Amino acid sequence: MMHKRTYQIFADEYENLSELTEVDRQLILKAREASENAYAPYSKFLVGAAVLLANGEIIKGNNQENADFTDGLCAERVALFYAHATYPNIAVEALAVTAKNSNGLIAGPAQPCGSCRQVLVETESRYKQPIRLILDGAEKIMVFNGADNLLPFAFKPGSLG
Ligand code: THU
Repeated sequence: MMHKRTYQIFADEYENLSELTEVDRQLILKAREASENAYAPYSKFLVGAAVLLANGEIIKGNNQENADFTDGLCAERVALFYAHATYPNIAVEALAVTAKNSNGLIAGPAQPCGSCRQVLVETESRYKQPIRLILDGAEKIMVFNGADNLLPFAFKPGSLG
């Protein structure tokens, strides 16, 4: 018998950086700093990411583009993969993402792409804890308590059976 069911996702919305916790505000500021070093000559869309590790370390990343467009990589994955390469045994607690175009900081919230969401899901599985996601914007900042809210019904290690 067919069942219809409604599923929910949860997020907190803010209008201003000052409403965030000190930790999350600092993480956004680090992500904004990182966006300044993005290599995005093709899209001119400068993305910055900041990863907070369980040891308190903050790892920054930004998008790295290529003349062969498909060879570029998003800011989130640059930061996450660097974090895993450098501190393979330290859990990721939070990730802040920001983006700016030629008009400055986007209205927001910054939206991680599907592939980055998938990598976040893997990172949560790897370290067995949810990652808080702080998505920056000039008009709206969103905080998600875990990637399940950004990528519901994700393909996870357990999906391999
Ligand atoms: N980009 C990111 O770095 N992160 C995202 O979450 C979305 C998109 C980059 C990829 C590309 O360099 C540029 O933004 C435009 O898509």
